[in-house]
Order: sequence, then structure tokens, then C-alpha cells
Amino acid sequence: MKTTIWIVGGSSGIGFELATRYLKNDYQVIVSARKATQTESLQQLQVEFPATLQLVDMDVSDMKSVADATQKAWKSFGQIDCCLYNAGVYEHMKVSEWDIEKFEQMTQINYLGAVRVTTALIPFFQKSGKGSFVFNASISSYFGLPYGGGYSAPKAALMNFCEAIKPELELQNIDVRIINHGFVKTRLTAKNDFEMPQLLEPADAAKIIYEKLNASNRFEIRFPFLLTSFLYFLRCAPRSIAFYFTRKAL
Ligand SMILES: NC(=O)c1ccc[n+]([C@@H]2O[C@H](COP(=O)([O-])OP(=O)(O)OC[C@H]3O[C@@H](n4cnc5c(N)ncnc54)[C@H](OP(=O)(O)O)[C@@H]3O)[C@@H](O)[C@H]2O)c1
Repeated sequence: MKTTIWIVGGSSGIGFELATRYLKNDYQVIVSARKATQTESLQQLQVEFPATLQLVDMDVSDMKSVADATQKAWKSFGQIDCCLYNAGVYEHMKVSEWDIEKFEQMTQINYLGAVRVTTALIPFFQKSGKGSFVFNASISSYFGLPYGGGYSAPKAALMNFCEAIKPELELQNIDVRIINHGFVKTRLTAKNDFEMPQLLEPADAAKIIYEKLNASNRFEIRFPFLLTSFLYFLRCAPRSIAFYFTRKAL
């Protein structure tokens, strides 16, 4: 029996490359995004993989949409083994540029959307006696960086949420894992006007994610090594030292 993965936020960037990689490795794949069924690149992928790819429209900021899409996604292949939550939006803003709607959108999609999908899918996993969640957060969840707080705060909340639910869900044979990675060249980072160290192509990031998820059962997957190590150092270092470095990023 093939393994079924539901990629939430798979219409572009890393999610699209993950969907392609899982399909090429003989998985059954469900891809969701707001207009997944109308996304040309996904329609083309479906021509290539008619039996193993299903598209389900879902807006993670709307609970009704999430509840309906979860039913539909489950029915697509009669099972879901893993839900990879990859939906995310990003805006960087100086204090003088703050826009509360952008803060709300990032909180809705980067954090609360993950809670909505988890809430809707848990009963299905409980019924089948197993399941697995993987959440794509970000290394920005380790330490707030200048201008990026609107994005990184919901990502930090997502990581904290995963840590909190893991022990409880484990008892029900439901696994929880998190991915914290660095810069990837997508429409999301196209907004950045600074040099991004260790920038990866989305296909390369998807390959690393795919391989690392299959290689072990570790709670956290992190890459690339140097950048994640530096951000992890900021997280663990005395605040005075961490702020010395982040002030330099102004
Ligand atoms: N790129 C990076 O450097 C980087 C670094 C660390 C972490 N990440 C994380 O990686 C994930 C993928 O990002 P990406 O760089 O590949 O960006 P992307 O190409 O913009 O992909 C974002 C995905 O999220 C979906 N999405 C956005 N709003 C949604 C909503 N309301 N409901 C359902 N789906 C929604 C988008 O689909 P539609 O817009 O079609 O609905 C799209 O499929 C994000 O969680 C991001 O935070 C990215």
C-alpha cells in the first residue's frame, strides 16, 4: 500500500517541489492551497501523475474551509499517513512601516492555520490509530531578527505549539515533527533586499527535507548547518551577546 502525504501549501516554492519529489518516489500526494485546483503548475503535475495526485482547495485562515478540505483530502485516497504543513506568508517591516493587517495575516497562516489543520485532522488520525504531522517553521523561530518579528513570532509560536502537543499525541500514535531551515529562493524571499547567506533553490531544499524526514525520526530537522548553528547560538547565548549581533543587522 502506498504512503499518502497531504502537503498544505504546495502550489509554489518548496511545497510544489516537495509534491513533485514525493510523487516521483511513488507516494500518493494531496496538495492544498487556496486555489490548488486552478493552479496551472499543479494541473500539469496532475497530467503526469493522474492516479497519485489529488488537488484540494483550502484556505487555512478559514476553519470551515479547513474542515471541508480535510474531509475531502481524507476521502481522496481513503487515508492520510502524513500531513506536511508548509503554508506560510512573509513580510518584513520596520516599526515605521507596521501594518496590523500583515501581522494578522502572518499569524493566521503561519501559526493559527497550522492549529486549524491539526484540529481538523486529529479525529481522522485517532480513528485510523496512527498519523504524523510535519510543520515547516523557520530558523527565524529561534531568535527574533530586526524587521522580521511579524513573521518569526508566529513561527516561534508554531514551534512552541509542536513541542507542547508532541508528548500528548505520541500516546495516540500520532507523531509531530518540525522543520527549521534557512533561506530558499522563492516568491516569499524575493521580497528581501539583503544578501541571503546559504540561499538554496527550492528543489534542493525539498530534496534535503525529503531525505532528512526519511532518514530518522528526529523531532527537528534543521539546515543549512552554518546558518542554523548561528541562529541556535543566538537562542542559547546570553541576551547581551545575541543583541550585539542582531543590532549589526539594522
Ligand atoms: N523561502 C524561505 O527562505 C523559507 C525559509 C524558512 C521557512 N520557510 C517556510 O517554508 C514554507 C513555504 O514557503 P515558500 O518559500 O515555498 O513560499 P511560497 O512559494 O510563497 O509558498 C507558500 C505556500 O503557502 C500557501 N498559502 C499561503 N496562504 C495560504 C492560505 N491562506 N491557505 C492555504 N495555503 C496558503 C501558498 O499557496 P497559495 O498562495 O496558492 O494559496 C503556497 O503554496 C512557508 O511556511 C515558509 O514560511 C521558507
